[in-house]
Amino acid sequence: MLSLRNKHVILGITGGIAAYKSAELCRLLVKAGAEVRVVMTAAACEFITPLTMQALSGNKVHRDLLDEESEAGMGHIELARWADLVLVAPASADFIARLAHGEANDLLSTLCLASQAPLALAPAMNQVMWQKASTRDNLAELKNKQVSVFGPADGEQACGETGPGRMLEAEELGELAAGLFAVGTLAGLRVCINAGPTREALDPVRYLSNHSSGKMGYAIAAAAIEAGADVTLVSGPVSLPIPEPARVINVESAQQMYDACLNEACDIFIAVAAVADYRPLKQSREKIKKSTMTLSLELEKTPDILAAMAAQEKRPFCVGFAAETSELERYAKDKLVDKNLDMIIANQATETFNQDEAAVTAYWKEGEQTFAPARKSSLARALIELVSERYNSSS
Ligand code: C5P
Repeated sequence: MLSLRNKHVILGITGGIAAYKSAELCRLLVKAGAEVRVVMTAAACEFITPLTMQALSGNKVHRDLLDEESEAGMGHIELARWADLVLVAPASADFIARLAHGEANDLLSTLCLASQAPLALAPAMNQVMWQKASTRDNLAELKNKQVSVFGPADGEQACGETGPGRMLEAEELGELAAGLFAVGTLAGLRVCINAGPTREALDPVRYLSNHSSGKMGYAIAAAAIEAGADVTLVSGPVSLPIPEPARVINVESAQQMYDACLNEACDIFIAVAAVADYRPLKQSREKIKKSTMTLSLELEKTPDILAAMAAQEKRPFCVGFAAETSELERYAKDKLVDKNLDMIIANQATETFNQDEAAVTAYWKEGEQTFAPARKSSLARALIELVSERYNSSS
């Protein structure tokens, strides 16, 4: 979060149970070197006290538009001019609606309208409210106006329901806010990433596949976008939101993934996909009947996408992933050499699939770096930083 140092951040808090996380967010922003002024709506004060936010930010909390004392100090227009970033976390459905319609009927909405600083929202609401067309329309309108939208996450909600609408954790919001000021380390570079599993058809209704959720690949794509890269994501079948504004090519089989990747002209190729190593030699046109007690499948090797990308005459900087159940380091280092890679990132296969956290070690010819267990989004940012360092020192 280095890029937040000396930045003036207005932390807007609206009424929602996620407001308790704003205290931690404020602490992290201050720790990162930002100067933070907190603006709370009346409803926010029902969830968390201004005194808490004053203690954490080190500044008096701003609450009222028509407060003579505040206006005599730092008035709302002055506050709007002071900001380098306005970050509203949590942003309620009501606040998002008011913002989308350009309303200025309390201090926070007025500030948002009066400020020329970048504006970022961390939505938090019940999953039904989040999925309603009116909320989606309001957010689309705001995104069109260059407002950044951080999250929300999927999961358990305070109301007892499960689904999208949880505010992102403070640490993640801090990193995303820092990303708005970071000068992109991959700016101007074309990065192609493959992600998710592949499906190798046996017959019209059955396939061979694996447990890959695509989370790591999608997090790497999001981190590369944050770092300023022009990202193409070649994705196997997953159910994850697209990391905007990546160009996504959806594929199913290893062969389709191979064709899509080999067709991409890129500076950096990151192979995160769990590509099937074998596919049925023959695909039955008709559904296979269970007429025998045993059934043997004859399989053939799929093409190795990563090795083929690295074997091209004008090859991109190639990064592979190695998920192993044993002898992680040895197998990873062998793959680095055998596939002629610039870097390989090794992880325990059993610990990674469909988890939100991972721990990995990256190996390259002259060195290695171990990353402690972290959320895949944080880990992806750290890995992208390392990839860009290695890419720059290799070119
Ligand atoms: O050889 P292995 O599958 O263990 O190597 C893993 C790395 O190779 C991953 O980066 C994976 O995406 C890539 N791979 C590939 N094509 C295959 C198999 C693996 O690109 N057919």
